[in-house]
Amino acid sequence: MYMDICYGGVPSKIPQNSMGIRGYDYVEFYVGSAKQVAFWHMKALGLDLVGYLGPETGHRDRVSYLLATKTNLKIVITSALQPGTYEISSFVQKHGDGVKRWCVEVVNVNETFSKAVKNGAVPIKKPYRLEDKDGFVEQAAIRLYDDTEINFINYDNYKGLFKPGYEKPVMNIQVSRKETNLKIVDHIVGNVYVNEMDYWASYINSALDFETFIYFGPGDISTKYSALLSKVVRSKDSVIKNPINEPLEAARKSQIDEFTEQYNGSGIQHVALVTNNIIETVANMKENGVEFLDAPPSTYYDDIRKRSEERGGLVTEDISELERLGILCDVELDSGGYLLQLFTKPLFDRPTFFYEIIQRRKGASGFGQGNFLALFEAIERDQERRGNL
Ligand code: FE2
Repeated sequence: MYMDICYGGVPSKIPQNSMGIRGYDYVEFYVGSAKQVAFWHMKALGLDLVGYLGPETGHRDRVSYLLATKTNLKIVITSALQPGTYEISSFVQKHGDGVKRWCVEVVNVNETFSKAVKNGAVPIKKPYRLEDKDGFVEQAAIRLYDDTEINFINYDNYKGLFKPGYEKPVMNIQVSRKETNLKIVDHIVGNVYVNEMDYWASYINSALDFETFIYFGPGDISTKYSALLSKVVRSKDSVIKNPINEPLEAARKSQIDEFTEQYNGSGIQHVALVTNNIIETVANMKENGVEFLDAPPSTYYDDIRKRSEERGGLVTEDISELERLGILCDVELDSGGYLLQLFTKPLFDRPTFFYEIIQRRKGASGFGQGNFLALFEAIERDQERRGNL
C-alpha cells in the first residue's frame, strides 16, 4: 500500500513567487491522544495512515502519525509521551487540541528563512537538517499568531517515506469507510484578537512578500447578533491563501471571541480542503460519521435556484442534492464562477478548530462571502447551545 508513494515534496514544481514557495506541505496538530485523532482522520476524513514516528522508531518522548492521500494532502498528528515534552504538553494544556504549524514546501530553506527574517518574521527555529540513511530534509520555522508556526521545508535530497524518523506504521489499523477524495489544502484561516488583524496581515505580507487579496470591513460580515472583520492575504501567485479574522463589537459575542476565549489565544480556526465533487465527498463524510453545520433554511436554496437561472443555469449540480446535504453555494459576480462549501462542526472538545470542504467551480476565487450570513448564523446556533453567544 505504501511502497510506491513518497510523501516528500514535489521538486519539479517551479514557484512563481519571490519566496520560492512551491505550495502547502503538511499541517501538524498537537493533541492529547494522537492515536485517537489519527483514527478519526482515517475513518471520518478518509485519509490513509502512511507514516509513524514513536518509541518503535527511536523517539521515546513523542508519537506522530502521518495521514495522507495519494494527492499529497498531508496531516501530522502529534502527542507528547512524557510531561517533559514541554513544547507539546504546554501547547495542549493551554490551547486544547489544535494546529501547531503549517508548512510550505520551498526551493531553498536557507534563502526563504533569511528573506523572511530580514523582512520582519520572528525566527522560531533557524534552518536545521534531519538526516538518515535516505538523505536529509531541511526545515525552519517562523512565528505566527500566539503559539503557531509557519515552517519552510525542502525534501529534494530525501528519498525516504516522509521525513527522517518516520517509518511505515507499526500498527495495523483497519477501518471501513466511504472514500472522500479530498485533494489538497485550499486555504488556512487564523482567528486573532481585536486590533490584531492588521498587525498579522502586515506581518505576513512583509515577511513572505504576500499581498492583501480581500478586505471585509465593518458591516461586510455580520449577523443580527455579531460581527467580524477579515483580511485575506496570499502569495502573489495565489498558491498560499491565508484569511485572518478578528471580532468586531456587536450586540452579542462574536464567534471569533468564542474561539480566542476557548483556545486561550490566537491561532488556526480552520483548514479548507479541496474536493472535485463536493456532493459525493460530503455525502460520504456524513456516512463516515462527520458532523457538519446545520443546513440553512429552504429559502436559501430558492435564492440559489433563482440566481443560477438568472445566469443561464450556471450551477450544474443538482440544487436539491445541495439542499439535502446542506452544502452552501456562493454565485460570484466578480469571477463569474461559483463556490460550493461546507464547514464541519468543531473537531475537538473545545469549540475551536474545524475543517471546511470546498469546491471552486468555473474560476471562483473568493471565500464564499455570499454564504457568510448562512454560515455564521449556523455557527451562532451552536454557540448559543454552548452558552457562549
Ligand atoms: Fe474558509
